[in-house]
Amino acid sequence: MPESDKIITIDGPAGSGKGTVARMVALEKGYSYLDTGAMYRTIALAVREKKINLENESEINRVLNETKIKTEYNENTGLNIYLNNTDVSEKIRTPEISKLSSDIARIKIVREFLVKLQREIGLKGKIVVEGRDMGTYVFPGAKNKFYLDATAEERANRRYRQLKEKSKREVQTYEEVLNEIKTRDKQDMERKESPLHPALNAVIIDTTSLTPSEVVVKILESTEAA
Ligand code: DC
Repeated sequence: MPESDKIITIDGPAGSGKGTVARMVALEKGYSYLDTGAMYRTIALAVREKKINLENESEINRVLNETKIKTEYNENTGLNIYLNNTDVSEKIRTPEISKLSSDIARIKIVREFLVKLQREIGLKGKIVVEGRDMGTYVFPGAKNKFYLDATAEERANRRYRQLKEKSKREVQTYEEVLNEIKTRDKQDMERKESPLHPALNAVIIDTTSLTPSEVVVKILESTEAA
């Protein structure tokens, strides 16, 4: 199998369904799976724990040098992510870390640090990689590229339901989630370094009125036809 066939990239904004869909595609194809958003979230957590000012590049650099990120994918339990050997998979899923990870993702040295790691993991092959710049920047040579999108309202609805189900109470109102999604979209799409946009040869799927299984079928059809 050529290198370019061994990586499936799935990009898209927050709440587009790419996490759920990417895991399902990985399972169907017997591929590994990497959630690169979790990596940005983990750096955000490290920076928050050390109370670092985001404007201070040498401090950020120090944190990166002291940070060891390890990802572990298991077909049954999903992706676990470790910050210096501590499992932070749950801790990175808060609204505060969502915002901070988008802020952190604008910093060039952070992106360079994580892209290197992502390429090391991705180039082992047979993997579904999910994020914002997988098809455009990190793995431009991949043959099977997808970009999932949905209206901001539908994406906020999904996130709102997810958050409520998880914590059994309302952590944020729907309006707060919607505003946060719109702010993050703007920041992720307008930043200088690897802004979010579909790769030229990506298949764009509007998931607004599709179930995750319907999206998976479209992706599998397209990767088999490729
Ligand atoms: O997919 P997510 O919501 O967990 O991602 C969190 C943040 O990380 C997102 O707002 C932007 C950033 N990110 C990025 O810049 N590039 C990626 N490949 C993945 C995520």
